[in-house]
Amino acid sequence: MDNRPIGIMDSGIGGLTVARVLHETYPEEGIVFLGDTKRNPYGERSRDDIVRFSFAIKDFLKEHQVKMILIACNTISFNVPPAFFEEDIPVIKMSMEVKMPEDAKRFAVFATPATIATHAHKAYFQKKYPQLDFVEVPCDGLAAAIERNADENTLSALVKQAAEEYHALDADTAIWSCTHYPLIADVFRKVLPKVRFLDPALPTVETGMDILRAHDALAGAMQEKVFYFTEGLENSAPLVKKIFGDVKVEKGALTL
Ligand code: DGL
Repeated sequence: MDNRPIGIMDSGIGGLTVARVLHETYPEEGIVFLGDTKRNPYGERSRDDIVRFSFAIKDFLKEHQVKMILIACNTISFNVPPAFFEEDIPVIKMSMEVKMPEDAKRFAVFATPATIATHAHKAYFQKKYPQLDFVEVPCDGLAAAIERNADENTLSALVKQAAEEYHALDADTAIWSCTHYPLIADVFRKVLPKVRFLDPALPTVETGMDILRAHDALAGAMQEKVFYFTEGLENSAPLVKKIFGDVKVEKGALTL
């Protein structure tokens, strides 16, 4: 048994979609969440910036004595160097192990420009499912628009523009490889009604929890959940309360 919290990191509110799955599947686990809303969007920054900010978030979480870190951000997961994962606690990146429908033919990866630039998903999916047509869809400006709570027309236009430009309009299956995107699942489904969307949040959480279970390190009783954001609590706090109820939402500062 280990009652220390699980650290969860993202560039902003997107990581809440992974924290939500953890909360639904393991409600007793404590959470320390840090969303770097001040420096969002990471997906439109240089790799150097992404790496520097990510190490600072990891330090913040370690100072809060977490027993594991879930990187609830694809942009961080696939841009940080191997050294980022070398810790005496597990550091878990976003999974790609989604359940592919048997009749999938044309598969699209929706992600930030910085995630697509790594081609990590392309390498994984083309190797695992060589029979699929595969398209990468970098969604310029979308995570930032979600972060600032843009209206539905703006969000739809951004999704549509990216899907058109990168030939995803005729995809039948897609993965949300940015944790912000499940927050606007309805918008994606309206713009692309024939597409089945897959969310890697659950396999990500399961990967981490399997490790904790194997080390007998699950929480033994209900633990506290605290959510830190580096800026903009007026947008993030209502969303946190809507998902998690009456939990602490506070301003956190990174040491850069
Ligand atoms: N939520 C992040 C992801 O999964 C990135 C959003 C951003 O661009 O900051 O990629």
